[in-house]
Amino acid sequence: MKSVIFDTDIGIDDAMALLFLHRAEGVRIAAITTRFGNASVEDTTRNALAVAEQFGIDAPVYRGAAGPLAQRLGEGFPEHVHGKNGLGNIRLNAPSSRPRPLSAHEAIVDLADMLDEKLSIIAVGGLTNVALALELEPALCERIADLIVMGGAFGYNGHRGNVSPVAEANIASDPLAADIVFRSGIPTTVVGLDVTHEVELGEKAVDRLAEDAGSVGRFIKESSKHYFEFHRSITGNYACPLHDACAVAYCLRPDLFQTIAQSVRVVTDGIAIGQTIHGDNLREYVSDAWDELPENTICTAVDSQAVLDLFLSTLASRR
Ligand code: RIB
Ligand code: CA
Repeated sequence: MKSVIFDTDIGIDDAMALLFLHRAEGVRIAAITTRFGNASVEDTTRNALAVAEQFGIDAPVYRGAAGPLAQRLGEGFPEHVHGKNGLGNIRLNAPSSRPRPLSAHEAIVDLADMLDEKLSIIAVGGLTNVALALELEPALCERIADLIVMGGAFGYNGHRGNVSPVAEANIASDPLAADIVFRSGIPTTVVGLDVTHEVELGEKAVDRLAEDAGSVGRFIKESSKHYFEFHRSITGNYACPLHDACAVAYCLRPDLFQTIAQSVRVVTDGIAIGQTIHGDNLREYVSDAWDELPENTICTAVDSQAVLDLFLSTLASRR
């Protein structure tokens, strides 16, 4: 049984991913840690508590970072994408539970210390909490089995940035944190837009989910309407990419992805702020910025249909 911390800026696709993880076999959600991103950390923490309560996810919630370590691209929150409340403006019962007293990064260190088996972290909203946890406990690298990051874009399959021509939203929300984490030595897999934009939830599939997955399916259909409309405004297609669910799919079935192993650096200022750039360990460059760094696993291709089928069948399964 794999113990997983779900680190999130719970927004619409985060909630889909959390419910996907909750219904999956062979994994236990040890904690939900929140941060700013799709909404304020107040709203993402409320959303995490409300979704966990409404759907019986027995995991403590820890409130995390309200802002980046240093600078980020842009300011405020993407209401046009995730709605004012971060969940497509749907009405959710106010949670009766509260976040635990520890902050998110303290909880990550505590849980990694307490649990006898190694922890996995699925980070789908930027890496501030993980960077703060590393600062608090540098030995964290030895206690984390793997870190799976939804974030970044390297240009594979023609996919570049979504908040600039070269930057992806999660990484651009705290570029310094991401650069620290990618260089830390934690075994890290980067699930970027290169593959997440290859996995789309369409209208027929979300209607089927509403039929087959009970209250979870109906919630996903209702909360994702705002997200579908946003993506239609860009692509003309009434569908949405399963960004965060792809990180969960990698945790469950890494064999559905093709990967390379290269060191990753992040641009932390200037017009390319938030860009993820991987090195090439077969080349000698003038720049030494990628030298002597641990390699990260980077997803370059995906069996899109298999990931979509896994997402739909897992959510429709009763647990
Ligand atoms: O760029 C996509 C990512 O940004 C997803 O995690 C989405 O939830 C937003 O956080
Ligand atoms: Ca997210």
